[in-house]
Amino acid sequence: MLRAIYPGSFDPITNGHLDVLSRAARLFDEVIMAVAINQSKQVLFSVEERVDLLKISCQHLPNVRVASFNGLLVDFARQSEAKAVIRGLRAVSDFEFEFQMALMNRSLEPELEALFLMPSEEYSYISSRMVKEVARLGGEVSRFVPKCVEAALKARFAAQRGA
Ligand code: PNS
Repeated sequence: MLRAIYPGSFDPITNGHLDVLSRAARLFDEVIMAVAINQSKQVLFSVEERVDLLKISCQHLPNVRVASFNGLLVDFARQSEAKAVIRGLRAVSDFEFEFQMALMNRSLEPELEALFLMPSEEYSYISSRMVKEVARLGGEVSRFVPKCVEAALKARFAAQRGA
């Protein structure tokens, strides 16, 4: 069983993440989408909400599982018996952080490989941060995110405006 984990904040999942995931799902027997419970990062959706949105968005991919993790990624990878970590690379600007993180993870767990996959170019400019900003300001995000995420963003910002 060749297993990979695809970790991230996924706040929320975008079509770019899904594109990278479907590429990874073709390469591995199983891919675990691993939602980081990162206390230091300010998030729009709770970890439970992010996991639910991922589960709905990935249900067409039979060899994908969704989980959340606390603590070090390398520890979660070890527990999950994953051989590789998948990360998406959109542009050169992603590279520096990803390179640093991959080398840190390698020094903590030399057996774990980092694998970078490029999303289709139509998704290369999409980020969760920008999608949130567009949605918050009332813009159209249906091209960038799955339907369940679009609905969740609308509901969250409508509730915030009403509050
Ligand atoms: O979607 P993101 O926010 O770019 O994902 C970053 C993430 C969650 C993959 C990264 O912050 C992470 O692996 N966090 C877990 C803590 C950890 O292992 N840190 C040491 C490696 S830098």
